[in-house]
Parts: sequence; C-alpha cells; structure tokens
Amino acid sequence: MSQQKLEQNVNGIRMQVSIAGEGPPLLLVHGFPLSHRMWQAQIAHFQQQYTVIAPDLRGFGGSDVTVGTVSMKQHAEDLKELLAQLEVDEPVNFCGLSMGGYIAWEFWRHYPEKLKTLILCDTRSDVDTEEGVSNRLKMVDLVLRHGPEAVASAMIPNLLSKTSRDLYPEIAQDLIAEIEAADPEGIAASQRGMAERDDFLGVLDQIQIPALLIVGSDDVLTPPDIMQEMAVRLPEASCREIPRVGHMAPLEAAEEVNQAMEEFLAVAR
Ligand code: MLT
Repeated sequence: MSQQKLEQNVNGIRMQVSIAGEGPPLLLVHGFPLSHRMWQAQIAHFQQQYTVIAPDLRGFGGSDVTVGTVSMKQHAEDLKELLAQLEVDEPVNFCGLSMGGYIAWEFWRHYPEKLKTLILCDTRSDVDTEEGVSNRLKMVDLVLRHGPEAVASAMIPNLLSKTSRDLYPEIAQDLIAEIEAADPEGIAASQRGMAERDDFLGVLDQIQIPALLIVGSDDVLTPPDIMQEMAVRLPEASCREIPRVGHMAPLEAAEEVNQAMEEFLAVAR
C-alpha cells in the first residue's frame, strides 16, 4: 500500500497531509517541533486496517507557516477543517504525541462528536510553571536569533532515553536533522501557543471517550507518574508504560507502541 501526500487549503493556509490505507480513520498528530514523519512506523503498520491521516501542523513540515502565535485551539480548528475537506465524516481515533496531546484536549472541547477514541502519547494536561513559560519564551528568542540549529542537539536528551541514544544513534541524527530543517517562525508560533495553553487537568473526568495513554518509562518531559494520574482521572482510560524509552515512545519502541495501539483500537472498533 502506498502513502499519498495531499495539499489542502485549510483556514487560510496550505496544509500538507499524508494519507494511507482504508478503514476507520486514525489521525496521527505529531509533537513539537517535528512533522508527520515521526509516525512512519505507525503509518506503515496501521494502513493495513485504517485510513491513516498524518498531517503536518501549521508551521511544520510541508505546511505553511503563520507568524506570531499559533494556539492549540487553532491547531484543533485546522484539524477539524482538514477532516471536513478530506470528507471524513465519521468520528476519528485521535492519536497525539505531547503537543499533539495538548491539541487533542482542545479538539475534544470543541468537537467532541468528532472523536471516537483518544490515544495520548507522552503528554500532559496541566499548564506550565512560570519557569516553564519563561523557558519557552527564551527558546523562541534563541530560535529567531540563531535558527533551530541552536536548539536541536540540546533537545535530544529530553526527547530520547539514554538507552535509545546509545542503541539507535540514527534516531537522534534524524530528529536533529528534522528540527534543524524546521522553520524558526513556525517553531516560535507554536512554542508561544503552548506557553499560553489552557489547563485540562480539572476536566479530565468529563472526557467520556475510550482512551489509551502511552508513556516511555524514561520520559523526562512528561514522566509516567503524570500520565498515570491522568489515566486515573479519565473515566475510560488505561496507561501503558514502555520500558527503557523516553518522550518519543512511538519512534523509540515502534513495535511495542503499535501493539498497544492495535489491542486498544481492536476493542474500541
Ligand atoms: C513535544 O514533544 O511536543 C513537546 O515536548 C511539547 C512541549 O514542549 O511541551
């Protein structure tokens, strides 16, 4: 089966999306500051049974960049409009990693009828501390002054576990190349958007949708205890911890993550 790359006009921008396979829709929403490429192993696996839709969010990959701030709500609106353009009418299985998870909360808030299940990888539902916000704004400044090269290598220890870095140096190399190729304004806009995102921790108990949470045991950005607490608060959720991997679990342990997703989706189908 082959992957098709389409371009759609969505809310005033040109958005690139990769589509593969046939079946119920599985929407894969990438993390920051990456693109749909992080989901290659999931696209290859799930296209056997699902219509896999993997967009590049506004500001990333092959999609147009918006200067300023891109809120998590804006990303959710883009996804809703993209699905409408692709004539996907049935509710989707929404799988988001980290920033993709922040967008999932907004998608739920505004379009709950369009959600069938949630798969949340290495993400959180609370807001940043003051220090966290300040670090985001420092990063914006750095990237706009010196380009993504100034942050790419330094991000790797936060994205990948030590085990992954030691065993699979090519994953780190690919991530560095991807971050270095990202548009500085695109990075800045979503970084500002994340800094002002809303808190969803207090409303998790209202999200009446089957949910699977996946987290790397060595994730230092969104560690297992945070995700386990979310799974307790979400009415229909379970949490799967993947040993020896970090924040990029679907990339670092593709087979285990695919298996967990497959089992979950089979029950929810
Ligand atoms: C991501 O992977 O999307 C980022 O770690 C999200 C964040 O910076 O909070």
